[in-house]
Amino acid sequence: MARIALITGGAGGIGRATGERFTAAGDTVVYADRSAEGLAELGSASDTLVADVTVVAECERMVADTVERHGRLDVLVNCAGVWVEGPTAQMTEEEWDRTIDVNLKGTFFACRFAIPHLERTEGCIVNLSSDAGLVGTAETAIYNASKGGVSLLTRSLGLELAPKGVRVNAVCPNDVETPMLAGQARDYGGDDPEGYLAALLADYPQKGRARFIRPDEIAALIVYLASPEAAPITGACIPIDFGSTAGY
Ligand SMILES: NC(=O)c1ccc[n+]([C@@H]2O[C@H](COP(=O)([O-])OP(=O)(O)OC[C@H]3O[C@@H](n4cnc5c(N)ncnc54)[C@H](O)[C@@H]3O)[C@@H](O)[C@H]2O)c1
Repeated sequence: MARIALITGGAGGIGRATGERFTAAGDTVVYADRSAEGLAELGSASDTLVADVTVVAECERMVADTVERHGRLDVLVNCAGVWVEGPTAQMTEEEWDRTIDVNLKGTFFACRFAIPHLERTEGCIVNLSSDAGLVGTAETAIYNASKGGVSLLTRSLGLELAPKGVRVNAVCPNDVETPMLAGQARDYGGDDPEGYLAALLADYPQKGRARFIRPDEIAALIVYLASPEAAPITGACIPIDFGSTAGY
């Protein structure tokens, strides 16, 4: 039977690629995003809903609308996320609140309202953590705090929901070629966005052979984690990062 998958941040690079992969496998996807313009780009054939995951009531409505439209919920993928970086002594309360609210609070409350429905279907959750949710990186303290939170939230929920047959995992990518990465280069690359991206690649273990991860490569891991073949995997935070968190 076709599953019903709800993807937050569904208009973004990873959310969109993940939706395409679920759809190709015969599943039904609801794309949720705060950006109505981004959702419109998915085309009229896509099932979309506008929701800001920083607003708890919108998380509740997003899940309720999905179940009302399709009668059930089998998979929740939490892709909504924002990036911030900079020296900690220069960071603002607004940057802290926005990043923690989207990345951590939004992920938590999407899970919180999805759980009763996922218990009914013995479904699963896949969260988007990050390499920065596994190890520290300099001048990204807020993002690290948000994604570290997502990683431990994932492990905790994996244990809590295991007796109910609900699996919860996270994928932890390094840099993926999406609008987020382009925005990082634009916002933080000064007058040399290409140099910003080149400096990221220079840190990869592959050195001269390094490239950024493609969104469809992240989507493949997410869809695998949501598949019956992944039945033994829960509470896991899986790096997909060209080895960049393997050691130093
Ligand atoms: N791109 C990368 O290099 C990378 C690496 C590691 C982890 N991640 C994580 O993967 C996830 C997806 O990132 P992406 O690269 O596809 O980014 P993206 O910017 O392409 O997409 C993110 C989407 O989230 C949406 N969004 C932001 N705030 C929201 C809110 N409050 N409510 C609902 N939607 C909201 C945006 O509108 C956007 O469509 C994020 O959680 C990100 O932190 C990305």
